[in-house]
Amino acid sequence: EKEKELIRVSWESLGKDKVPHGVIMFSRLFELEPALLNLFHYNTNCGTIQDCLSSPEFLDHVTKVMLVIDAAVSHLDNLHTLEDFLLNLGKKHQAVGVNTQSFAVVGESLLYMLQCSLGQGYTAPLRQAWLNMYTIVVAAMSRGWAK
Ligand code: HEM
Repeated sequence: EKEKELIRVSWESLGKDKVPHGVIMFSRLFELEPALLNLFHYNTNCGTIQDCLSSPEFLDHVTKVMLVIDAAVSHLDNLHTLEDFLLNLGKKHQAVGVNTQSFAVVGESLLYMLQCSLGQGYTAPLRQAWLNMYTIVVAAMSRGWAK
């Protein structure tokens, strides 16, 4: 329960517009795994990573990712209700060429973003709480990926 509270309070403290935080997260992701940029086909003819990050289609995906995290935070007491959605989401990512190992790198990038955005608020228990939630989400997506 303490874990859930840490997640809820920290997520809310990021403010209503989560997209800028998502941009930090994906900037980190592409730093760690630049090849992922190529999976966003609409990004093939952008000059720099920064151009890509500001394209509307890309920001659309960031928005979708933040909405999924938001849904997980809202369903901390009954994450299993998201199971079918997450299985399906994993399957869709298999179809667009994302490997399950990359989901873990997204997790690292999420923690990086939280560290940047929360500053002193980023504590070891908070990090662990987010990691636990993210692991559940990714496990479901990975099951769907492999189906
Ligand atoms: C769709 C790439 C991680 C949520 C897509 C699409 C691509 C993509 C290429 C289809 C085109 C588009 O909608 O822009 C990636 C890559 C990821 C990643 C490279 C990094 C490994 C995630 C994560 C989440 C997520 C972690 C959520 C937790 C979504 C959603 C859609 C989507 C909700 C729309 C699916 C639909 O059409 O129903 N992703 N994605 N993605 N992604 Fe990701």
